Amino acid sequence: MMHCALPGFETETVRADDIILTPHDVARDVVERFAPTGKVLDPCKGDGAFLQFMPGAEWCEVREGRDFFGWRDPVDWIVSNPPYSTFKPWMLHSFTLAENVVYLVPLHKVFCGAKYLDAIMQYGGMPEVLVMGAGSRLGFPFGFVVGAIHFKRGYEGPTWIHRHNAPGHFRLEAQRRDVK
Ligand SMILES: C[S@@+](CC[C@H](N)C(=O)[O-])C[C@H]1O[C@@H](n2cnc3c(N)ncnc32)[C@H](O)[C@@H]1O
Repeated sequence: MMHCALPGFETETVRADDIILTPHDVARDVVERFAPTGKVLDPCKGDGAFLQFMPGAEWCEVREGRDFFGWRDPVDWIVSNPPYSTFKPWMLHSFTLAENVVYLVPLHKVFCGAKYLDAIMQYGGMPEVLVMGAGSRLGFPFGFVVGAIHFKRGYEGPTWIHRHNAPGHFRLEAQRRDVK
């Protein structure tokens, strides 16, 4: 199975570089780590990399006629690898729906954007970042470091940063401030 951007699979609404499928062993390890319970949603299932490890979960996939931006029901967990070109509205929509959100992304997408950090602080916080490794080593078509970030509504505690399959962790604690 190829895990890469998929030119030829794009539609009028989906860019080819938004279709980057997650290697199934990576998806399995992320789901096992965060063990979502209750009402779970994969908002963009692609070929089902995450969904197959979350029995009973709901799903969206715009290429199969289910647009995540049309989903309105609250859920306990959202877990997936989202499209990158719409990541900001995607995160904001996720935060309106879910108590917990886990997104596997190139980490710089989140940590190099003040707009993302502000949105996260308004929602809650990040209990954990699970650093999976360089994208190219995991089977993604880029080298950026990829990690699974757990966002949690109302969370004000520290952020634990773990390296997948390695002992130890970092613990980050930041002083919160109000965001206008
Ligand atoms: C980065 S790929 C990841 C797919 C899958 N989650 C995985 O990890 O293998 C993003 C997926 O989002 C889908 N997508 C893009 N916009 C969407 C939308 N508005 N609603 C639902 N799915 C969407 C794309 O078709 C693509 O399958």
